[in-house]
Amino acid sequence: MVAEPTTLYLPQFATVLETEPMTATERYVKIAVDSGESLGHKPGQFVQVSVLGIGEAPISVSSAPTADPTFELVVRNVGNVTAAIHRLSVGAKIGIRGPFGNGFNVDSLKGKDLLFVCGGIGLVPARSLIRYCLNNRSDFGEFTIFFGCKSPQERLFLSELEEWGSRPDVTFRETVDRPHPDWSGHVGVITTLFPEIQIASPKDTVAIIVGPPIMYRFVLIECLNAGIDEEHIVMSLERHMKCGVGKCGHCQINQKYVCLDGPVFTYAEARHLKEAI
Ligand SMILES: Cc1cc2nc3c(=O)[nH]c(=O)nc-3n(C[C@H](O)[C@H](O)[C@H](O)COP(=O)(O)OP(=O)(O)OC[C@H]3O[C@@H](n4cnc5c(N)ncnc54)[C@H](O)[C@@H]3O)c2cc1C
Ligand code: FES
Repeated sequence: MVAEPTTLYLPQFATVLETEPMTATERYVKIAVDSGESLGHKPGQFVQVSVLGIGEAPISVSSAPTADPTFELVVRNVGNVTAAIHRLSVGAKIGIRGPFGNGFNVDSLKGKDLLFVCGGIGLVPARSLIRYCLNNRSDFGEFTIFFGCKSPQERLFLSELEEWGSRPDVTFRETVDRPHPDWSGHVGVITTLFPEIQIASPKDTVAIIVGPPIMYRFVLIECLNAGIDEEHIVMSLERHMKCGVGKCGHCQINQKYVCLDGPVFTYAEARHLKEAI
């Protein structure tokens, strides 16, 4: 029998290098693994973050893969563990298991036109892939990013949004759901951005969709109407998780474990999973 790596079950120690609020509910945390080795993640994977004496929560890695031991998370304060992560100071020790999940298949994206559709905190896992692809920009064709939030106060990674908006090789469109005195840009749900662009070659386009469950239903219709193949619509799904390694069944949808078989699924796969979307 092949031995499973201990990081499946045993957290390794890591140290908080930077932490700062991004919005009223989201906090950016930069972490380094104490072993000095790279986390070794792929875009779209997640780690189980444990705060000693409190518990553990799955959180997506938001940074692109690096050779050094640092990586970035963005954590929304919703309960016990996430509130404890918000209270951590620079130098605090935490536990990390993983990286877990399948992540995005970056090789299958090479040579394709990319359309990212990111809603709210969905930008967090998508950013890892966006940054990876921008670091290897010549491997991809047209590069379009849609980002939508309920209000301007929920926008994340402001300097990066500005950079994407100013790059000549990226089409970046942003929207907020409702008019706001602090917002002079596009207003409307994220699907209202679709008429703003021309998908030149739908058969060569991969749509990467990450956002709240309600968003998928409507964005999927837009992508399918635009002629993008079901196999070329890629989504990251979120389910309640405990173990992260296919043992506890918390994340199971039919015969699939979201922690192992996902969280990234094509629409062609997910449409057969009851209640997946
Ligand atoms: C693969 C994956 C990636 C994730 N990535 C991120 C990320 O990058 N940033 C981030 O802030 N959050 C992320 N989450 C969600 C995060 O794991 C939960 O918010 C966290 O587990 C809540 O733990 P808690 O102890 O703070 O809350 P609890 O005290 O356990 O619960 C607080 C509230 O949150 C609800 N809740 C608990 N767990 C989840 C869950 N998994 N999904 C939805 N609602 C939940 C509970 O029902 C309750 O209403 C991710 C989840 C998954 C499965
Ligand atoms: S989280 Fe335990 S099986 Fe997926």
